[in-house]
Amino acid sequence: MPLPEPLAPRRPERLWWPLAAAGGAGLAAVAVLAATGRAELMASLTALAFVALSAGLALFLTGRQGPALTGEPAQDAGPQAPFAEVVDGLPDPLLVVSAMEADDLTGRRYIFANRSARELLRVGPSQGLLISVIRDPQVLEAIDEALFGGIAAESVYEIAGVQARVLRAQARPLGAGPDGSRLALVAFRDETELRRVERTRVDFLANASHELRTPLASLSGFIETLRGHAREDEGARDRFLGIMQAQAERMSRLIDDLMSLSRIELNEHVAPDDDVDLSCAVRDAVDAAAPLARARGVRLDSTLPERGLACIAGDRDQIIQVVQNLVDNALKYSPDGGAVSIALTCGATAAQASAGERSDLTRLSLLSPDHAAEAYAVLRISDQGAGIAREHLPRLTERFYRVEGQKSGERAGTGLGLAIVKHIANRHRGGLLVESGEGRGTTFTVYLPLRARAQAAVAKAS
Ligand SMILES: Nc1ncnc2c1ncn2[C@@H]1O[C@H](COP(=O)(O)OP(=O)(O)O)[C@@H](O)[C@H]1O
Ligand SMILES: [Mg+2]
Repeated sequence: MPLPEPLAPRRPERLWWPLAAAGGAGLAAVAVLAATGRAELMASLTALAFVALSAGLALFLTGRQGPALTGEPAQDAGPQAPFAEVVDGLPDPLLVVSAMEADDLTGRRYIFANRSARELLRVGPSQGLLISVIRDPQVLEAIDEALFGGIAAESVYEIAGVQARVLRAQARPLGAGPDGSRLALVAFRDETELRRVERTRVDFLANASHELRTPLASLSGFIETLRGHAREDEGARDRFLGIMQAQAERMSRLIDDLMSLSRIELNEHVAPDDDVDLSCAVRDAVDAAAPLARARGVRLDSTLPERGLACIAGDRDQIIQVVQNLVDNALKYSPDGGAVSIALTCGATAAQASAGERSDLTRLSLLSPDHAAEAYAVLRISDQGAGIAREHLPRLTERFYRVEGQKSGERAGTGLGLAIVKHIANRHRGGLLVESGEGRGTTFTVYLPLRARAQAAVAKAS
């Protein structure tokens, strides 16, 4: 897209290059911070990067020939071509807008759009009327403030449709062009993901408060009753105290689960590095579940490899939490007199582990590792319970999600167990799979990368 005549050079200006480079580097750093979730640092760095980039672009526009921006060969082989590539390659859409008179709406034109902006606004490489590509009055107003008010302004720009997106349009003044036209840089930052995360956070807080308030309200109700008409009724008092204890325990379970979840999330990006022998850890967790299984009349069958084979880099307490949660679910949703099987094997690839083993059931991967390791330890926990209907499977690891109809009575849980399992498996760079069919039981599979030493031992043993 060649720049218009009025932007032709007056004098060479060299300062734009380091400024633009600093801006570009700043934006790249912002992308890295975004990926690692460092929100506060990101905000300040973005502001700095945009200031540098805007200043660079302003100097460039007033000091250079148009072809440099389009990558066409320029007369003097300076740093123009790389700059054109930098601007075009930036992931954030950038638009340069020019205008002459404030009251001439059709005089506002976009004179440059980088590749991202061309894709976003679906425009070709030529210039055009601004109102033909941006119709949102608030965004246009923000651009006007930058053009004619000389101040930075921003507005939210929402794109409806199947792939709805929310962008923040930030307009900054670029001063006057050589022909007296006003110039502004409009940068769009995609905040769709940010919005989604924010909504999840708000929903999470609302759910957590609701879940805590229910037992709390019940406790308050019973305290009132005990102080009132049940004061002299010994039978009622014992019954109410029993319910109150159960509610207090429920609150304490909820708080424990919430705390574990936030602890796990806090260091989810740091892979654990302790040596954990899965056979031992699984055996301990299964032993701990034995009294509950006995009380429910459910048989626990476990098949574990010998010690020293299933060694992973892990966090033992978290591994035990995974097994406890899955065994606890299997027991909870098993019929009386049923059986739960716990099987640990070594050496499968990620593809083999996630292929499942029960073709008669619906299978869904709830988590798969980003980078496949060579060999995995695979833990499968199966029950003969009522199973889970297909439509619920994708939501199982959402916080507080419980299948309707299974919520009440002694089976009440926190709805956080599988979310915890997924986050722990993710921290261990592993995967999680569910296979289930209504009336046909459920199998959960967790697979975790084996230590290199263990891989060698498994290869030798087989
Ligand atoms: N083995 C299973 N059989 C049937 N349904 C299950 C099983 N495991 C989990 N679920 C369903 O998934 C939901 C979420 O599980 P989880 O996160 O552990 O929460 P909960 O605290 O309810 O156990 C459960 O409420 C239940 O509806
Ligand atoms: Mg559970």
